[in-house]
Amino acid sequence: MTQTSDKWAKVRLQFDALPYPNLPLEQTPGDHPTYLSAHSCVIPYYLRDHQVIDPQDKWILDAGCGSGYKAMALALANPGAYIVGVDISANSIELAKQRVEYHGLANSIEFHCLPLEELPALGQAFDYINCDETLYLLPDPAAGLKALQVVLKPTGILRANLHSRLQREDCYRAQALFKQFGCLQAAVNQAEIALVRQTMASLQDWVMTKRLLWNQNPEVQTNDEMIAANFLLRNDQGFTMEEFSALLRQANLELINMVNWREWNLEKLFKNVEDLPIAIALGLADMSFEEQLYMFELLHPTHRLLDLYCGHPGQGRDRPPLEDWTMTQWQRAKVYLHPQLCTQKFADILTAGTRRLGTLALHEHFPIGNQKLNLDDSIAGCLYPLIKQPLMMSELCDRWQQIHPVEPTTLAPVDPSQVFLTMQNILIQLETAGYILIEVI
Ligand SMILES: C[S@@+](CC[C@H](N)C(=O)[O-])C[C@H]1O[C@@H](n2cnc3c(N)ncnc32)[C@H](O)[C@@H]1O
Repeated sequence: MTQTSDKWAKVRLQFDALPYPNLPLEQTPGDHPTYLSAHSCVIPYYLRDHQVIDPQDKWILDAGCGSGYKAMALALANPGAYIVGVDISANSIELAKQRVEYHGLANSIEFHCLPLEELPALGQAFDYINCDETLYLLPDPAAGLKALQVVLKPTGILRANLHSRLQREDCYRAQALFKQFGCLQAAVNQAEIALVRQTMASLQDWVMTKRLLWNQNPEVQTNDEMIAANFLLRNDQGFTMEEFSALLRQANLELINMVNWREWNLEKLFKNVEDLPIAIALGLADMSFEEQLYMFELLHPTHRLLDLYCGHPGQGRDRPPLEDWTMTQWQRAKVYLHPQLCTQKFADILTAGTRRLGTLALHEHFPIGNQKLNLDDSIAGCLYPLIKQPLMMSELCDRWQQIHPVEPTTLAPVDPSQVFLTMQNILIQLETAGYILIEVI
């Protein structure tokens, strides 16, 4: 057996013993718009191209699909797409098949027991690849990225992530510790999990490993899967953003953005970006986007995953910020509601909201990042038809005027140019928060 296949064997053993995620078969991501949104291919395409694609007939790969929960989310978030899941663990694939069968999705998802390094053998190219929580387990993540790049269509987008070495250093210390006691060799087993529990129970509360990995995470203490994922994960490797960028270059892939890009805002780490030490200010001005992300990580390693979208170099279209758009651009603006809001449930929420004559806390129904967004009745009324179809800016202005034909104080007819400005401000706010997508046609 070669060194590489031996390393696969260890990971395969771990996930054959404990397929991930260990969620009940009947559980579905279908009721969770935020979760589905993270699996919608429309969002990364919009982020890169500022265009709203139709997922119908797109080919989507879930590389390292585990027990199939996210493959199911991909199918639900991308209606009409063909979903393919691959994993090296035969038991995980078996569970994945049972899961999609249970939910009646077997016709739109197929699974293969295959190392992702051998994906080119499938002979299928993909519009979108989700490689979530997998790359850091590979014996050679660069070779894995290269295999994904080979099966990515020229305009395709790959979501890939690696564990952050800086954020996860406590876990790596604990894994090294338990290796010293013979763990992390063969399949993860109850004896290893019991040893972690007994060791933590025997330690003083102020011991760093116990304090950080155990006492501060009460949910880990009762969850075997989380103990395995943190203390006993086979082949778990950590990376910095600098190293991830180098791997992307090696695989001839180009960074598009971080998946949770709102939470990687370097400027927000400073009290006042206008008042920085001169060396930092000058350094920042010269930094590439990747270098800025690395600086963020060095200052504030808060993200367990370095989770990003990338694609073949030279794709994507630049667009000025909405605040700088010309009148012509606004006149050609086509407005879409976020795909996960185009549901009967949201229609009911809007209808109830507008009847209540108050404000609707949109973030409570569909949280995106940490933003809070309250809609008043008129905005809710304008959004309503977007559930069925996108509308041009002018159509939204007409609708606003129907809802608000006169100025509330003077009762004079509303001024159309004022309505246009109001609508611009509303749309900028909604797009920035992520609830609508705007295309210029
Ligand atoms: C932590 S689980 C993640 C599962 C799923 N992506 C999720 O996020 O729910 C990692 C999965 O990657 C699979 N895996 C590891 N190395 C692989 C490889 N070289 N090729 C395909 N799958 C692999 C494992 O068997 C396991 O099911």
